[in-house]
Amino acid sequence: MNSKSLKLINIGNLFTYNSKKRSMVSEKGLEILIKNGKIFEIGKNLNNVDQIYDCENNLVTPGFVDCHTHPVFFDDRSNEFEMRVAGSTYEQIASNGGGINNSVKSLRGSDYNELKQKVTQRMNNFLKLGTTTLEAKSGYGLDLESELKSLAILDEVNTEHRVDIIPTFMGAHAVPKEYNGKPDDYVDHLCKVIIPAVAKQGIAKYNDVFCEKGYFDIHHTEKIFLTGLDYGLLPRIHSDEFANIGGAQLASAMKCISADHLMCVNDKDILKMVEANVKAVLLPGTTFFLGKHKYAPYKKLKDFGLELAIATDFNPGSCNIQSMTFIITLSLIYMGFDINDAIFSSTYMPSKILNIHDTTGSIEEGKNADIIVWDLKKPIDIPYNFSKNCIKTVIKSGNILF
Ligand code: NIG
Ligand code: FE
Repeated sequence: MNSKSLKLINIGNLFTYNSKKRSMVSEKGLEILIKNGKIFEIGKNLNNVDQIYDCENNLVTPGFVDCHTHPVFFDDRSNEFEMRVAGSTYEQIASNGGGINNSVKSLRGSDYNELKQKVTQRMNNFLKLGTTTLEAKSGYGLDLESELKSLAILDEVNTEHRVDIIPTFMGAHAVPKEYNGKPDDYVDHLCKVIIPAVAKQGIAKYNDVFCEKGYFDIHHTEKIFLTGLDYGLLPRIHSDEFANIGGAQLASAMKCISADHLMCVNDKDILKMVEANVKAVLLPGTTFFLGKHKYAPYKKLKDFGLELAIATDFNPGSCNIQSMTFIITLSLIYMGFDINDAIFSSTYMPSKILNIHDTTGSIEEGKNADIIVWDLKKPIDIPYNFSKNCIKTVIKSGNILF
């Protein structure tokens, strides 16, 4: 938080969700006055303040809110990327001992401070790319010690770093190799030992499960969710990424905060999600990075009335993408988003999913001053120019970061 007051002047185009109008709005000629890290006033000819920032007639939007990331890993997995581009599939690599368990091996042996340093660097990069708030999952530890270590690092980095991090426990990311062939036993261990300890540690807010063929079936997932709920951890789910095994249906029955991926979701499940008010998080970067072609059916989800966000799914395996700008570009090109909905789905809507929309996700009076000043004039210029870094300045909680 910055106690100095700051005024943004010469805003060419203020593009943000407006809660009163319940839509994205684009306004010209406004100024933004920031006090104590918050947006104090938006209007014309506002009072003078400690510092003035000239936006030089550029586009101004809220900072991005990335509601699905896996940033706590040690080594990258570029070797698997190389295998994929040479013809292996993600599923083949995972069943040969690679994939998530590959990251588990390197995280378990890692030094706490070295791992923390890597996570910090990734957070620096998120901010550079305009992401001012993100949800971040554990899930490359998959034993008691390493899951607690991953969450503790997220908590420390959140305290020390400008970016805001909302931590999620994802002990059900894969069955670790010591439980190979015994998923029931691992789920028992998760429910009896790890989840209670995670709750006691008090850092994680959500409990996410990779409900997928070869990972956790719906019975495992339900058990993990019910145990989590007993300990106050709210359920989120990775579902229908490679196959439909009933994840979205379970998400509706369990009233999950969100169901994420959904490439293989069917109409019946979508209806149930709408009825249960389960929101969707679409991750086009994963489809793209895996070289697949079946994107989540955005238009259909929208027509059914589902509320949805887009996010990076940043992780070392299936999606080494941190840029929300690039995710917006993919959502337009491959899923049929228009630019209004793409920006809404990467700012306000993810805040609503994370239940932080009273403070984050739009530029409105009283909210946190999390703002991107672009070197661009209009919203469509963001995806059009995705290959250049067109962010001029990021302001986080009233601090001009660069
Ligand atoms: O969201 N789906 C589960 N987790 C990631 C993959 C993680 C990895 O490959 O390391 C995902 O795609
Ligand atoms: Fe994921």
